[in-house]
Amino acid sequence: MLYRTPSALDFDLTHRPAMERPGRVLMTTPDYFDVAYVINPHMEGRTGTVDKTEALRQWQAVRETYDALGLDVHLLDGVAGLPDMVFCANQTLPYYDPQNDQRGVVLGRMHAEERREEVPYFAGFFSEHGHDVRELSDAIEGSFEGMGDAIWHPGRRLLWGGHGVRTAPAVYDAVSEMTGAPVVLLELVDDDFYHLDTCFCPLEEDTALVYPGAFTDDGRALIQRLFEHTIEVPAVEAREKLACNAHCPDGEHVLIQRGCEVALEQLTAAGFTPVELETGEFLKAGGSVFCMKLMFW
Ligand code: ARG
Repeated sequence: MLYRTPSALDFDLTHRPAMERPGRVLMTTPDYFDVAYVINPHMEGRTGTVDKTEALRQWQAVRETYDALGLDVHLLDGVAGLPDMVFCANQTLPYYDPQNDQRGVVLGRMHAEERREEVPYFAGFFSEHGHDVRELSDAIEGSFEGMGDAIWHPGRRLLWGGHGVRTAPAVYDAVSEMTGAPVVLLELVDDDFYHLDTCFCPLEEDTALVYPGAFTDDGRALIQRLFEHTIEVPAVEAREKLACNAHCPDGEHVLIQRGCEVALEQLTAAGFTPVELETGEFLKAGGSVFCMKLMFW
């Protein structure tokens, strides 16, 4: 159940089974967060520049925002020697099947050697919480960076699957089978937007925040077909402030890096309530709000 082109789409969004939004949030404590190597263009020239006190303050503010919005925040301790583990959107893809009340995660397979040891900590967390923990079979080649590239359509059992930089398209047949959801594939064509969550943020069933320059013509057309409204972010806000690495947990509030003026104006005009957060220390590593947490059921 993979869709690569708009002409292949043979379903209507309203025919996809409904699925409630996840109510739980996982965050990894930032004790060992740093820029210690370069695995994306945002990290170039940033090695050793993280202000640890400021990073902790920024991370706390994100956590408190989720608490204040009534989400159930869970914490996983960061681990020494794994400076990117704080970006806990990448090691797994949580799923939920309301029909049989089944909760699980598909384990990721990190692209960079430096991040591979992060995954077992998340596998441990989810098995302790009684979720099915599933792995891609060895027969499937290529990496898979969890919810960094595979993003649920709000309220529906439909996945969007980014590929081309970190995640290999070959993994999505298995991801679709394990989660029981069709996957709409979006190829990423600009290395600054190395994960789907850096250029695509579904806010509501009918609205997404996007940076169109990160996609192919087919990708842009697929997004247009399945979202009634798209809010387009200008290049500087998308590239320098990762405006699309935002998160709308409830169809109303949009947690977003501070100072994305054009995005803010459009979000407000569309009826959303932006919540500006400073994530500058994490931007040095190529991440903002969306990748600092993992939503699960
Ligand atoms: N330095 C991390 C990496 O390159 C940042 C990950 C940010 N996560 C995200 N989902 N965009 O892997």
